[in-house]
Amino acid sequence: MRKKQHNNDIDELVATARQARSMAYAPYSGFKVGAALQTKEGRIFSGCNVENTTYGLSICAERVVITKAVSEGEKDFVRLAVVSDHDNPISPCGACRQFMLEFDPEMEVVMVGQNGNHRIMTVAELLPHYFMRRNKKS
Ligand code: THU
Repeated sequence: MRKKQHNNDIDELVATARQARSMAYAPYSGFKVGAALQTKEGRIFSGCNVENTTYGLSICAERVVITKAVSEGEKDFVRLAVVSDHDNPISPCGACRQFMLEFDPEMEVVMVGQNGNHRIMTVAELLPHYFMRRNKKS
C-alpha cells in the first residue's frame, strides 16, 4: 500500500517535470530540462532551465524549482524529479547538487530518461564528502 502511494507520487512528479520541460527557455543549447519538487506536505512545484545570451547567467531547472519553492515558504522536500529529452537519465550538475544539499542531503533525486528508465539517488549519494554548515535554523 505504501509502495503504491510512493510509486504514484513518483509518476505524478515525473509527469509534472515533463510538462515543465515544455516551458524551458533554451535557445542557446537547445537542451530543454524540466524539474518537479515534492514537499513533505505534498505540494508540488515545477521549474525549467532558463538560459541567457551571456550564457553564464543561465540557470538549471533544478535550481529554478528549488528557488520557486523556497520563495513560497517551503524548505522541507521529499524528492525532486528531473527530465530532459535524452534517452538516458539526466544527472544534475555540481552546482545543483550543492544547491539541493542545502535543504536536505537525504532528499531523493529521480533522474528520468525518455526511454522510461529512471535512477533514484539521494543528494548525499550524488555529492559524497559534501560540505554543509551544521545547525541551520532558518
Ligand atoms: N541543465 C539543467 O537544467 N539541468 C541539468 O541537470 C543539466 C543541465 C541545463 C543548463 C543549460 O540550460 C542546458 O541544460 C545545457 O547544459
